[in-house]
Parts: sequence; C-alpha cells; structure tokens
Amino acid sequence: MWPPGPRGQPRRVAPTIMNDTLLTVENLKTYFFTERGVFKSVDDVSFTVPRGKTVGIVGESGSGKSVTALSILRLVSAPGKIVGGRVMVSCRGVLQYAPTGTVDLLTLEESEMRRFRGGKIAMIFQEPMTSLNPVFTIGDQIEEAVALHQKELNEAQRWEQVLEVLRLVRIPDPERAARSYPHELSGGMRQRAMIAIALGCRPEILIADEPTTALDVTVQAQVLELLRELRERLGMSLILITHDLGVVAEQADEVIVMYAGKIVEQGTVRQIFSHPRHPYTRALLEALPTFHTTGRLRTIPGSVPSLAALPRGCSFQERCDRVQQRCREEDPELMVMGEGQVARCFFPEL
Ligand SMILES: Nc1ncnc2c1ncn2[C@@H]1O[C@H](COP(=O)(O)OP(=O)(O)OP(=O)(O)O)[C@@H](O)[C@H]1O
Ligand SMILES: [Mg+2]
Repeated sequence: MWPPGPRGQPRRVAPTIMNDTLLTVENLKTYFFTERGVFKSVDDVSFTVPRGKTVGIVGESGSGKSVTALSILRLVSAPGKIVGGRVMVSCRGVLQYAPTGTVDLLTLEESEMRRFRGGKIAMIFQEPMTSLNPVFTIGDQIEEAVALHQKELNEAQRWEQVLEVLRLVRIPDPERAARSYPHELSGGMRQRAMIAIALGCRPEILIADEPTTALDVTVQAQVLELLRELRERLGMSLILITHDLGVVAEQADEVIVMYAGKIVEQGTVRQIFSHPRHPYTRALLEALPTFHTTGRLRTIPGSVPSLAALPRGCSFQERCDRVQQRCREEDPELMVMGEGQVARCFFPEL
C-alpha cells in the first residue's frame, strides 16, 4: 500500500501518487470544535486506494471511520473541520488544468468539488433512509446522478441509463422500482437503490459506509456479493467501512484498523488476519468466534477514551495487555512491520 521502509522504523509518507493508485489520503486531520473540547476524530490518517481494489476500514464505534469517509468528500459540517492533510485524486476527465494529472480535493473550490463528489467518487451512507430523498422516486434520484455527470444524454437516454443501473444492482422489475418511492421498498431493495444512485454517475471510487448494517444476514450477503461483482465488472475501487471483521476478511484486499481517530494497523488482508501486530487488532480477532465465520466486533474490556481528552502516550494503553512504561509517556508512530504492514506500537506481536 505504501513503499516499504526499513523494518521497525517510522513509515515514510509517499510523496507522490503512484500509477495504480486512484486516491491518496495524506496526513488527514479532522477535528470537532465543541464546548466540551476539541475532538480529534481523524488524526493524521494516511492511506492509498489502489485501482480496482477494496480497502476495508474497521474499528469500534467512534473510531473515526465515517468522519474519514466524509472528509474525503468534504462533507464534514460544523463543528467539524478538516484542519490538515491532502486528498489526492487523479482529475482525468474532470479538470483539465492540473499539470500533474492529480489534484488535492481539499484545495478545490466548492463548485469544482461537486464535479468529483458523486462523480469520480460516490458514497453510500451509513443510514439509507436518511440519504434517500422521500419525496422523489428512485428513478428520479438515479436520473439526477446520471444527468449531473453525463450532460450529453437526452431524457430517453437518461431513463435507459436509470433502468440499466437498476438492472445492474439486480432489482427485479426495474421499471416498477424506478417509479417507486423509497418507503415503498424493502430494506434490501432500498440498499440496492442506494447503490444504484451511487453508480448512476459511474464512479471510479465507491465509498460504502456500513452498507449492510441495517439488513438481515441473507440480504447482507447478497448486497456484499453485488458490491464485489460490480467492483470487478466496472473496475471500481471500493472503500468498505464496517464493524464486521468477517465482511472485511471476505471482501477486502487491504485493511485499515482505526482506534481513537488514528490508524493503528494497516496491511493486506492476509497480514492482518494471519499475523496481526497491534494488540488492538489481535484483540479484535480474538473476540471473533473463529476467524472464518462472520461476526460483529465484540467489545474488548474497557472503552475508547474520549477523543477530547486522550491520555499522554499511546491511546490504547488503558486496554492493552502488553502495556509498558514507555507507552504511557510517548505516542508511538506507525512502524514498518514487514512489507506493506505497519502498526502503531512500541511492543508489537512478533
Ligand atoms: N457532529 C459531531 N460533533 C461532535 N463530535 C463528533 C461529531 N461527529 C463525530 N464526532 C466525533 O468523531 C468521532 C468519530 O465519529 P465517526 O462517526 O467517524 O465514528 P465511526 O468510526 O464511524 O463510528 P460508528 O462505527 O459508530 O459509525 C466520534 O467519536 C465523535 O467524538
Ligand atoms: Mg460510522
């Protein structure tokens, strides 16, 4: 995911976007400025999304997964603010002026940003009912996405595209579904409709924030299978945010583990599941019934510290079974553990 650095050394930050990389998040910081203090919800997060791959983001509730996703699309609202970092994407086909072919989304005017949001990058939000508009039909909402990004199409062509994406997400009777309002669909069909809206603009990167949380297990499996198939067929990259380690094991190529606003471990799915280095990742895996069955994250004893009052040193220290004096004094950086695997720990699992 990143150029490997010397083992045991802090990771170098990749200076430029690589050829097979669609998105590079560098040192992203998003803080919430509240009366109760400054919550560092995303604190110095860096990762890349390779073309055609799935990057899974896992972590307990409140670890900063959604805020990371919302920051990429610049959808964080007050009291939240992106206070640092870069979000580099290729701007081919969207903006002509960037000589390097990449732009930092965080520097764009809002009007330019809109051409990326729901264009090159689309997002499926955590709550389908709050992001589907109840007063418009599913067809209208997909058509809006199509129209926004394929201005050359006439009405009939747009409607053909609407039906095409509904077929793509395997909604039975697309004509009827297109004329339905969100409340007329079942949970599973609504989630498919959400995916159809996101696909309406042919994104290169799809961010799916807990796309299956509200669904029952069989429908969950169908929606996940659909996402995988679409990624392969359309050559998209997927950022898959989930509580469910089983989903990550099955779907992701790369895994990011977040804790208290920071990445604590990152590696390939094989590295993370067969050789976790951070005590938090290990604890998450041990909380699963077996590594191969689907399971939600069970709680680990203790709780995530307040993001507004993090302890000095490592933020996992209170819950860690490998804690030593150094962990209470110094905050570890992400250290290189092996090729492509990094962990934020002074005393990692060997
Ligand atoms: N509107 C807000 N005001 C203040 N703080 C906020 C707000 N939204 C998020 N935060 C802070 O950001 C942190 C991270 O939130 P985020 O929604 O990214 O968590 P998450 O990892 O997506 O959790 P979940 O698994 O429950 O969806 C929260 O713990 C909270 O401290
Ligand atoms: Mg969330």
